[in-house]
Amino acid sequence: MKKFESCGYIEHGMVLDHCNIIRHCNNFNPRYDGRPIIYENYKGQKIDWKEFFEIKRNLRKLFRENSCPKQCTECVGIAYKEWDDDDYIDYLLLTPWVPCNSKCIYCEAPRNEHVLKNTKIYKILPLIKDMIRNKILIKEATIDFAGGEPTIYSEFESLLNEFIRNDYKKIIVHTNAIKKSRSVIKGLKKGCVRVLVSIDAGSKEMHKKIKQVNSYDSVWNNLKEYAKNQPKDADFVKAKYIIVPEVNDSEQEINIWLNRCKEINIKSVVLNLDFNWIMKNVDGNLLPIYNLMKYTQKRAKELGINCELYGQIFQVKCEIEQSREENIAGF
Ligand SMILES: C[S@@+](CC[C@H](N)C(=O)[O-])C[C@H]1O[C@@H](n2cnc3c(N)ncnc32)[C@H](O)[C@@H]1O
Ligand code: SF4
Ligand code: SF4
Repeated sequence: MKKFESCGYIEHGMVLDHCNIIRHCNNFNPRYDGRPIIYENYKGQKIDWKEFFEIKRNLRKLFRENSCPKQCTECVGIAYKEWDDDDYIDYLLLTPWVPCNSKCIYCEAPRNEHVLKNTKIYKILPLIKDMIRNKILIKEATIDFAGGEPTIYSEFESLLNEFIRNDYKKIIVHTNAIKKSRSVIKGLKKGCVRVLVSIDAGSKEMHKKIKQVNSYDSVWNNLKEYAKNQPKDADFVKAKYIIVPEVNDSEQEINIWLNRCKEINIKSVVLNLDFNWIMKNVDGNLLPIYNLMKYTQKRAKELGINCELYGQIFQVKCEIEQSREENIAGF
């Protein structure tokens, strides 16, 4: 295998996105309009895998020629390492549905008129079965559920069970944890499902302000139950805090959140930043956000909790520290 700069999502990623689009990735690269597309207008039809991988190869070729797709320019997703030349998917993000039982102030999906109008629900299970049958989706793949809220989607339990039954080992469920899922508990017990819940607040008042629904008690109860059902010593249930500047960017909220996580035996927390804010403030003053990130890391360490940085907050770290690293955070 040769060593060169490329992106894992271009190489082997597949994203079933909103608006019936299939993409290579779901990362943002705001300056260059990231998230390159594979297919538009996808409604569950059988995929011609030869054609699918040909599209991928056209972009992979650019990296092999020391160049890259325009949308990928300067993206933190690019890494210099050894890449293979094979055709397979090792990262599948399922996020084609929009409806949600929460109304998080930072989330565009359930209130974006364009997205709502242009997202037609289709059956995903036949596509997944086809990918498994044809060995497109390798067993070592990361399968990631997002949305909208995946647990309220009608195919959710059967999709998750399909992956569990076929011995996929790394299935991540992004959920608001308002609705408890039996297959999530089954997968946690088996050790193949991992759960990430955005709490974004410590206090009940702030939770209501961010989520705009009364879900504080059910979310913490379900999170506690999920944490209890993970294998002993596993770190498969994580709580997230999305910093929304001028709303929940306070040390006090971070403190209450971390203390509650400690109470219910969460071993790792995740910090992120509202990506809509960063899109508008990409050239603004990022120092206060950086300082809050450093404070959170310090408090988490004092409590014996591991603190990871996701997406945009990681980009802020790289920008302020003038570093260019691969983010190894995540499940
Ligand atoms: C759109 S949600 C869907 C899954 C699920 N409803 C949830 O909240 O986890 C997928 C992930 O995107 C994150 N997200 C949504 N809007 C965001 C934003 N403006 N900035 C950063 N992360 C965001 C959520 O916290 C969640 O972890
Ligand atoms: S380099 Fe960035 S924009 Fe391009 S596919 Fe990778 S993550 Fe997406
Ligand atoms: S729970 Fe998830 S999908 Fe629903 S509004 Fe919040 S972030 Fe968006």
